[in-house]
Amino acid sequence: MNVFDFSLLIRYGKVFKSHLFFSPTIVSCDLELNHFILQNEEKLFQCCYPKPIHGILGKSSMIVVVGETHRRLRNQALALANITRSRTSYVTDIERIALQLMDSWKHKERIVFCEEVRKFAFSVIVKQVLGLSMQEAESAKILEDFLTFMKGLISFPLYIPGTSYARAVQARARISLTVQAIIKERRKNGFDSNKIGDFLDVLLSTNSLSDEEKVSFVLDSLLGGYETTSLLIAMAVYFLGQCPPALNQVKLEHQYIRANLQEAGQDMSLEEFKKMEFTQCVIHEALRCGNIVKFVHRKALSNVRFKEYVIPSGWQVLPIFSAVHLDPSSHADAQMFNPWRWEVRKGQTQIISKSFTPFGGGARLCPGFELAKVEAAIFLHHFVLNYRYFYI
Ligand code: HEM
Repeated sequence: MNVFDFSLLIRYGKVFKSHLFFSPTIVSCDLELNHFILQNEEKLFQCCYPKPIHGILGKSSMIVVVGETHRRLRNQALALANITRSRTSYVTDIERIALQLMDSWKHKERIVFCEEVRKFAFSVIVKQVLGLSMQEAESAKILEDFLTFMKGLISFPLYIPGTSYARAVQARARISLTVQAIIKERRKNGFDSNKIGDFLDVLLSTNSLSDEEKVSFVLDSLLGGYETTSLLIAMAVYFLGQCPPALNQVKLEHQYIRANLQEAGQDMSLEEFKKMEFTQCVIHEALRCGNIVKFVHRKALSNVRFKEYVIPSGWQVLPIFSAVHLDPSSHADAQMFNPWRWEVRKGQTQIISKSFTPFGGGARLCPGFELAKVEAAIFLHHFVLNYRYFYI
């Protein structure tokens, strides 16, 4: 279980002052204030990631841009997500990648699970976004650069040749070149805007983004969808391993779904994902307990008064989601992995609430949240059907 240091809350309260990332900071572990911050994006607060992150992600990244540019990029992201999810291959591509990966384990004595799910999440996102399979040379090249890029994201921001930070900035430039080459190739091969295939086709057909923004868009999707989703799957498998009744219930659910698919001679689709009700409870609980994104970065645009607190203009504000997720006043027996707690909310279309914000919220709610859940559910489907495992 992800541990949040509750002694800080006891000593300082749910909202306290600190100095973090070289800035005076208000840390909020209060669900009401967190909600208020997320809902007032661009009005009272603004997304504000530390400067070195801008250096690595580039100035057109959706994660760092603000104001009108963010709105424009985000609208495109949502439109693209909608178009891609309506393709019939959306689910079958993910399923094929899961099966290929599990097939590759057959002759191995042992695997490092975290690395395998990373491969899975990377293959899915590269397929969804660029239409590439992992066997293609470009994928291997992007993966290699991407690993260097990821290391730099959490390194000391010193641009001296040889440092992790400098290597990450260079790796980003190389990925950018590879993506540009793929775009060029796609255009050269007579891209037809009336015959839209994958995400890249959709992206190329939009006129409201510059080429640089299109490349940034691809990088944002890779970045947003790789480490986070693989962690989610690893967490779900880890927690299930410690909770045999939940694992058993998940298995039964998938055996039933598989039997129905076989009987009808059909392929898996989004309809089956909707039927994976208990699996979705497990995914939600893994997100709550696992806290993949623990907090986000914001700054106050003016002096903001909220209840008895005044947040000074320009101060950094960190809404801490993990503190709320593990707070017993928001979730009974908060330290326990209990997927059944979500059953009461089954059928509610909006599971995200003030006390459950694994994908953030408001104007910056994660555009990839459904893809992440679908990927995790499909992976679990084949994993529990084909493997027995337990926690030692
Ligand atoms: C378990 C998986 C995931 C988790 C926990 C997660 C979490 C989050 C969170 C908390 C934010 C909000 C950041 C903020 O408010 O500053 C966010 C934003 C974002 N995520 Fe995800 N994410 C996941 C999967 C994905 C996937 C699969 C994609 C891409 C396909 C993606 C792409 C993005 C992008 C582009 C943003 C920026 C949105 C904006 O600023 O408007 N994420 N994600």
